[in-house]
Amino acid sequence: MTILGIEEITYGTADLATSARFFADWGLALVEQDDTRLVFECLNGCRVVVADPARRALPKAIEDGPTLHEVVWGVATPAELAEVAAKLRAQPGFVEGTFDGQARVGCTDPNGLAIKVQVSTKRPVDVQSAGFNTWNHKGRIDQRAPFYERATPIEVGHVVFFTDNVAAGEAFYRELLGFAPSDRYPQRGAFLRCAPEGGHHDLFLLQVPGGKPGLNHVAFTVRDIHEVFGGGLAFSRCGWETQLGPGRHPISSAYFWYFKNPAGGLIEYYADEDQLTAAWEPREFEPGPTVFAEWAVAGGLDGHTRRQKGLEAPGGKFLTEKR
Ligand SMILES: [Fe+2]
Repeated sequence: MTILGIEEITYGTADLATSARFFADWGLALVEQDDTRLVFECLNGCRVVVADPARRALPKAIEDGPTLHEVVWGVATPAELAEVAAKLRAQPGFVEGTFDGQARVGCTDPNGLAIKVQVSTKRPVDVQSAGFNTWNHKGRIDQRAPFYERATPIEVGHVVFFTDNVAAGEAFYRELLGFAPSDRYPQRGAFLRCAPEGGHHDLFLLQVPGGKPGLNHVAFTVRDIHEVFGGGLAFSRCGWETQLGPGRHPISSAYFWYFKNPAGGLIEYYADEDQLTAAWEPREFEPGPTVFAEWAVAGGLDGHTRRQKGLEAPGGKFLTEKR
């Protein structure tokens, strides 16, 4: 049994109108809407549900206020789903049945978060990504690199939660769902991937001193670093506020751009994370600002001026012209 990735996440917030604008600007497609919830899809069919917990039954959240209420993971076949059911049956909050038209099994993880598993309904995506010209590999010949007017995220690539017991969380996802450890902050943080072969992390659990369970961020995979930058510029132009970025993570090598999300936590565009196999040995890092970001733009780039926030837009035809 192998977990393939994230199928669906559900945010709970009373303000559906703001979320409707936010996630449309983010680049998701609205596929269902009523007074109590919005359903968006990423390019491969991965779903982002935003529901009003006062008007729609949702699993209990792990913190007050707008946040994630549930994460649904995918497996390949009904037989694998039955295997998951057998493993989760003794866990707190075990459920099994049809939810939103999908056969799902689920429980509550050690952090108090509702999780479910279903047979994957994500579609293969056929997208073009940038080729890169490096000293020893020319991946783009007679061809301009892409410039993106906006992002269209492929899927939800990872979720990150604050926890009060990182060891219990790591044990749960490894023993019951087959996750593999990628890297750690000793006693503080666990970067976990769904399977030995895959992107650097699908789940990161972070235990800050005295911390309580909560949502840190949800990250959306885009094609390449150019879409991180072009998508972030466009999203910034829509008026949404950067938390940090663009920048680059030393631990996964990914390029990132984080924005504040009115539906809870932060939201991230990212691309070019490390791909790992069973041969990968987990490393240990002491947490710190240069471990989180090799470099980053605080406050972001202004989508209109295309410069650091607060700077004037460039003028003139050439950069050397005096103004
Ligand atoms: Fe992230």
